[in-house]
Amino acid sequence: MAFDVDLIRAQFPILQREINGKPLIYLDNAASAQKPDTVLDVMSDQARHAYANVHRGLHTLANETTEAYEGARAKIQAFLNAPSPESVVFTKGGTEAINLVASGITDSINSGDEIVLAISEHHSNIVPWHFLRERHGAVLKWVPLLEDGRLDMDAYRQALGPKTRMVAIGHMSNVLGTVVDAKEVVRLAHEVGAQVLLDGCQAGVHLDIDVQDIDCDFYVLTAHKIYGPTGIGALYGKLDALKALRPYQGGGEMIEIVEMDRVTYNEPPHKFEAGTPPILQAIGFGEAIDWLSQFNKEDIRAHEHSLYEQASAELSKINGLTEYGLSEGKGPILSFSIEGAHPHDIAQLLDRYGVAVRAGHHCAQPLMKHLGITATARASFAIYNTTADVEAFIEALHKARGLLL
Ligand code: ALA
Repeated sequence: MAFDVDLIRAQFPILQREINGKPLIYLDNAASAQKPDTVLDVMSDQARHAYANVHRGLHTLANETTEAYEGARAKIQAFLNAPSPESVVFTKGGTEAINLVASGITDSINSGDEIVLAISEHHSNIVPWHFLRERHGAVLKWVPLLEDGRLDMDAYRQALGPKTRMVAIGHMSNVLGTVVDAKEVVRLAHEVGAQVLLDGCQAGVHLDIDVQDIDCDFYVLTAHKIYGPTGIGALYGKLDALKALRPYQGGGEMIEIVEMDRVTYNEPPHKFEAGTPPILQAIGFGEAIDWLSQFNKEDIRAHEHSLYEQASAELSKINGLTEYGLSEGKGPILSFSIEGAHPHDIAQLLDRYGVAVRAGHHCAQPLMKHLGITATARASFAIYNTTADVEAFIEALHKARGLLL
């Protein structure tokens, strides 16, 4: 469909809001994106007209709901170009997906086995691996970044070795917007026999993802950053890799047989979907994928990138301002600090002018340490942002800076 930002904005009623008497300029999309009417409507319609539990019923509503739920899985399969719906597990978000994998591989982790992480990881892709360090003696190996925020591939090569069991790396940094060469990361890891989990929570909305082409073992998505609801995400896994994982939680639907003295498990993906899943959210996730897929990803990327470039160029004119992560091809995520002004104060003052940005360590404390800072302010752009949003942001930032310095 032709890309018309006004038509897109009209589908997000929240963008009509005023904040502190000013039009909302929503630039906190890397934290969570807004949701179009169609995503909200599909969940509401399903709940009102065709709702029951999934997989359990022999009645019409149960069948209709199961069809919609499994239909959403098929949409995510297509979005990732996964080979089969069975390779897509619904989770409650990106964090749960990574915890699922980290807890699922414990049987194959021995003391001294290594997990390779980038220094730029979000805590969700660090702490589950710390559990393996604490409980199973795994060793975490950290790969630094180059000056421009890209992964240091020489250091990455050196970090890999015969003890590497897993490489867990964010496809796009939530702080810097920098993108890793996913195919090369995977190729090198496979050469030493390690598996690769890519955290696609930021990349999913900005890049074309093809898990078969990348050849990763696991890929993680969260819906709420892709214009979908909260409470739902997805884990893609190669079928053999999923089959080899221990089940994450026990409960209904994840079993094959339960007896008094033994239990056997269902096949993936059901093996990992214990209990009643977030049914409506999964259906909303599928709708968000459909909604996003009507646009050409290249058009979206060009639009978001031009907003980022516009903002970055203006920021570079501000004395004492540092932008972090300036590599080619990065996503539309702009982290910065201003000498003498705390990022929290910047964010709070921007809010006075209706501009929503995030400030803090962004759940990436090792990265902050690596950069020698404690926090940044972060503006992140989405499909519905405009050049007028960037102008309003820059104007508000000048005012905020004037008040702080
Ligand atoms: N991971 C989200 C962020 O970067 C919450 O803001």
